[in-house]
Amino acid sequence: MDDEGERLQKVLASLGFGSRRTCEGLIAEGRVSINGVVAVLGARVRTDTDAVTVDGAPVGVRPDLVYYLVNKPRGVVTTAKDPQGRPTVVALVPSEPRVFPVGRLDLDTEGLILLTNDGTLANAIAHPSTGIEKEYLVEVHGGRVSPSGLRHLRDGVELEDGRTAPARVAQPSPGVLRITIHEGRNRQVRRMCSAVNHEVRRLVRVRIGPISDRRLSPGDWRELSSDEVIALGRAVAASGYDQPT
Ligand code: URA
Repeated sequence: MDDEGERLQKVLASLGFGSRRTCEGLIAEGRVSINGVVAVLGARVRTDTDAVTVDGAPVGVRPDLVYYLVNKPRGVVTTAKDPQGRPTVVALVPSEPRVFPVGRLDLDTEGLILLTNDGTLANAIAHPSTGIEKEYLVEVHGGRVSPSGLRHLRDGVELEDGRTAPARVAQPSPGVLRITIHEGRNRQVRRMCSAVNHEVRRLVRVRIGPISDRRLSPGDWRELSSDEVIALGRAVAASGYDQPT
């Protein structure tokens, strides 16, 4: 057995999976894997290199991995560099270690976006098969959306790249929609609203899977807690993402 690294139950306990005893239970039940292999009691992990999963969900044990939640203001680009010199979302967070955005928001879209150097989790979240929910608050032109417009949005609208999957759509006040989708097509919410004859006036992403934050001001960022990283990993696993080994 590899006697380098830290005891697995200690690492899991420090990440919030419960007491060391509870974590031993998870290992004994075969729910924990290291680098794709089911872990046994007494296993050790090298937190700088090993990939650990619990119930198939990647667990961010590596201390070199960072996860930032940013509230992107309007007019900020999601790419790492912009040839036109516009402000970038990457410039809002510390420059070291280098991180990249998970997915993208349009220039005019505001709200939550994750930045990380964890390629595994980023790929899993961005992968089309994952289907992590994203929730948006949308202000539309043209006032109240009719019941048939809402029904179309919920059932799926025809776009040039195909019909959208069923979505959750509420209208908390006339002309303001709360839309939850689990696809990530280009300008999807704008195109969905346009398809029911309501152009988008303002679009704000308020939730990514289990992650939301009403107190984070536009332009601000914070690190995810380890509970949030774990919850994200679980959401990825629950959505059926098949992690490449
Ligand atoms: N849908 C859009 O239309 N734009 C975004 O930025 C995100 C979702």
